[in-house]
This record gives sequence, structure tokens and C-alpha cells, in this order.
Amino acid sequence: MKVFLTGASGYLGSNLVLALSRSPDVAKVICLVRTREKLSFLRGVLPEGTIVQYVVGDLNDPATYRVYLEDADVVVHAAAVRGIEFCESHPDEAEQVNVCGTRKLLEAALQSGAKRILYCSSQAVYGAEDQRPYREDCTPHPDTVYGRTKYRGELIVREARQKGMQFLILRFSRLYGFGIFMREEELPHRFARYAVSGVFLPVYHNGEDVVDLLHIRDAVASIEFFLHPARNHCWNDIYNVGSGNPLSVLSLASLYQELCKKLGLKVPALRTFPSSPGRKPKILGLDVTKLKEAGWTPAVSLEEGIRELLLVYQKAQEQRFPLR
Ligand SMILES: NC(=O)c1ccc[n+]([C@@H]2O[C@H](COP(=O)([O-])OP(=O)(O)OC[C@H]3O[C@@H](n4cnc5c(N)ncnc54)[C@H](OP(=O)(O)O)[C@@H]3O)[C@@H](O)[C@H]2O)c1
Repeated sequence: MKVFLTGASGYLGSNLVLALSRSPDVAKVICLVRTREKLSFLRGVLPEGTIVQYVVGDLNDPATYRVYLEDADVVVHAAAVRGIEFCESHPDEAEQVNVCGTRKLLEAALQSGAKRILYCSSQAVYGAEDQRPYREDCTPHPDTVYGRTKYRGELIVREARQKGMQFLILRFSRLYGFGIFMREEELPHRFARYAVSGVFLPVYHNGEDVVDLLHIRDAVASIEFFLHPARNHCWNDIYNVGSGNPLSVLSLASLYQELCKKLGLKVPALRTFPSSPGRKPKILGLDVTKLKEAGWTPAVSLEEGIRELLLVYQKAQEQRFPLR
């Protein structure tokens, strides 16, 4: 199988390249990378060779990558402008990349004769309506710029079917865990950093928000699972990919305390900040029944993922090297 991957310099994309480059089923991974700086970093971590090939280009400039699509059996579309707050303050950029960029990619893929496109979508398409836990057949009501642009990207990708190309949409919950291009600002990473630095864990809104955390290795494994020929019957469909075990931010913080104790680290204090009057808690959680029925469940437990983060941050602190 030859894969054309967008977003190869991102958190999900880079960890996926690493996994695909080791897969016996993959003959080539052609990686779209936007900048030369990221390219040189990536080359250091994932050297170019017979399997991994890099292409510098922009989603919105298909001339930079069209010819490489001709060599691909499947397109994995992991490029996006991400982050709820970032997209709220940069709505034009989110529209340009997540909507227009997806349209341009799909058109170029159709012209090049690629047979399949796998779209990395998000739980954000569901919005904060009271339909939890979100099932794939819930009507999306995205309530953020990010969620709306990701949903419009889904609608574009679904058009592929009428044009003879198969699509697969994976709606991921929140990704976390040690890996290439890990984002330090993500809550589980911040908690780990604070915990090993002896700083209290700030728990906002009384910790009542509920998060659904999926380990980056599991996110990668789910994509590999669906790319396997044994899952050909799963295409032209949508799957939630989440942990199946959402938990409150307060429970998450308590888990850090528990694991620090088990690892012999200083147990961080929790500092709880009240919610503002009238604020509705953000309760997230994907229904993963369909995913389980397809035959896939996450392998990395939250305890394991956090333990690894704590050890990585602890080591980084001891050796005084930054994680990125
Ligand atoms: N991380 C999560 O918690 C999460 C959860 C649900 C769904 N997802 C989805 O999963 C996918 C991957 O997310 P991620 O966490 O890996 O995001 P990320 O780390 O922000 O990576 C996004 C990637 O998209 C690339 N990109 C942005 N604009 C581009 C453009 N115009 N042309 C080409 N490439 C462009 C970025 O390139 P640069 O490196 O040059 O910026 C980067 O490689 C996204 O589609 C996201 O919506 C992520």
C-alpha cells in the first residue's frame, strides 16, 4: 500500500509516519510537509528512504503535491488548523485550511485517481448539545469555529463517494501522550510537567468538565487498523475513536496524585478554582460501540499513558533538557 499523508509534521501525522514506516503492509508513505524547517526536523527523527518520502507543499497549492498523489493508493488527511481557541481567533485561517484546503486536496486526489481518502476528524463536530455520549448517527451541531470547519471538511470528503472514491471519517477524541511533536500546552502534558516540578495542579471550574483522552499510539493504531485490507468493508462510513472511558478533570488530577505516589514522586497538591456562575460544564465523551463492533479498542490505559508522561518529564527535568 502507498499512502499520501497530509499533516506529517503534526502530532498525529508524525507519529503515524513512524508507525507506517515500520508496517509490512506499507510500501511507501509520501508525506506532505509545509515548511523546510519542519522538514529538516522530521528528517532527523524519521529519515527519508525507500519507504518515507517528503514533499514540501501547501494543501491550498495542489501544484506542489498533485503529481505525488498519482503514486498513492490512499490519502490520509491529517493536516488541519487545530485548537478551539486558535480557530476562534483565526477563523479565516481555519476556513482556508480545514475547508478550502480539504476541497483542494480532494479534487487533486480525484484527478490523480487515488481510490481512498481517510479524514481525521474530531469530536468537536458534535458540539455541546445534550446527546452524549455522542454516537456517529447524532446530528452534528458544532458550536466552535474549529468544529464547524472540521464538519464541513467531513461533508467535502463524503462527496468522494459519488465520484467513485471511498472515504472513511474517524472522529477522534482528545489526543495525548508522549510522542513526536507532543504539545506541551495540552492538559495531560501540563499536569505531568507541573507534577514533577512540584507545582500544584490547577483544577478549573471545580474540575467538573469531562474529557475523553485517547493516547497518541492508540490514535495511530486505529488508523493502521482501518487501513488494513481486512477492514475494506468499513469504508464509506464514520467511526468515533475515543477511550470509551471519559472522566472528569478532577478525577484526572486525582489520578496524577495517585500515580505520583506509586512512582515515589512528590504528590502534587490540587488547587481548585470555582466555576463562573451560569457556566455549563463541558462534558465530552464518544460512544465507541461501533468501533468495538468493528473489532478495535484502545490498548494504552490512561494510567499507563500518564505514568509514561510523568517518567518522561521527570527524566527531562533531571537532565535539564527541554522536551521540544
Ligand atoms: N490532537 C488532537 O487532540 C485531535 C483530536 C481530534 C482530531 N484531531 C485531528 O487530527 C488531525 C491531526 O491533528 P494534530 O494534533 O496532529 O494537529 P497538529 O499537530 O496541529 O498538526 C496539524 C498539521 O497540519 C499541517 N498544516 C496546517 N496547515 C496546512 C496547510 N495549509 N498545508 C499543509 N499542511 C498544513 C501542519 O503543518 P505545520 O507543522 O507546518 O504547521 C501540521 O503538520 C487534525 O485533522 C485534527 O483536526 C486532533
